[in-house]
Amino acid sequence: MGLTTLSGHLICISAAERAAVLAHLPDHIRQTMREPGCLYFDVAQSTDPMVWSVNEAFATRADFKAHQARTASSPWASATMGIRRDYAVERGNPEVRPESPSDTGAAYLLNRDAFGRNDEADLVNALRASGDLILSMVAVLGRAYLGHAGFSALEAPFHGLALAPVAVRANVRGQGIADRLIRSGISLARDQGYEGIVVLGDPAYYARFGFSVAAARDFTSPYAGPHLMVLDLKRAGLPTTGTLTYAPAFDALG
Ligand SMILES: CC(C)(COP(=O)(O)OP(=O)(O)OC[C@H]1O[C@@H](n2cnc3c(N)ncnc32)[C@H](O)[C@@H]1OP(=O)(O)O)[C@@H](O)C(=O)NCCC(=O)NCCS
Repeated sequence: MGLTTLSGHLICISAAERAAVLAHLPDHIRQTMREPGCLYFDVAQSTDPMVWSVNEAFATRADFKAHQARTASSPWASATMGIRRDYAVERGNPEVRPESPSDTGAAYLLNRDAFGRNDEADLVNALRASGDLILSMVAVLGRAYLGHAGFSALEAPFHGLALAPVAVRANVRGQGIADRLIRSGISLARDQGYEGIVVLGDPAYYARFGFSVAAARDFTSPYAGPHLMVLDLKRAGLPTTGTLTYAPAFDALG
């Protein structure tokens, strides 16, 4: 199983329990944040000084179980064992939505970390700055950013967009997050009246969304070849020849 969240309350009923939490919580948080599968771990005192609200997320169920196994033999567990916990453990369901201004820094880091270099992250910033980033989708779970997909302006003989880049945080890959980002962007593009989307990528992956190498074959483009694909959003038949020109910011991408 994939993304796993835990939320609820830790409820003390005596001064001794409260003192145990206060004494061991900082180290418990520190240790957990070091676990590679931890997406976030928020334990905050509520307005009632005897109650802490707990919100955690882990990249996979296995990561959550590893966290529980580590915690079971920790000083935190022995000190707080008897304290009441009112928790719900659920499968994490990230929200996929267009970016808002406060998401731009996170989108930069997602692209930088996913590609292991700054180029794609800089590209997204340059596209945004030039007004060419038409749709910018983010996948967010709680306060953790998991993925980003950009759809930018395209000059083409149809009203089109170019999809790139797509980035998903390494430890949550293979859970359909890119799939949801791409499908949401496609759906929004269709709603906004776009007729087609161009992508440069692996046909084995992009075919599932309806992208076709054959539909792109006769276009002129610096990216022409076996990895250039077109998706016909209206399924009404797009022009099949002409020139596809990506936004100028792509010229800087090596
Ligand atoms: C490519 C990427 C966005 C996929 O994200 P994801 O959330 O794991 O994707 P999903 O879970 O929706 O889909 C997983 C599928 O993608 C395939 N896949 C992963 N990386 C791929 C790649 N570079 N090329 C082709 N297919 C790829 C997987 O094999 C898997 O296929 P399956 O469904 O047939 O088993 C992610 O691996 C990533 O960020 N990679 C680094 C950046 C990158 O290369 N981006 C793509 C180019 S813009």
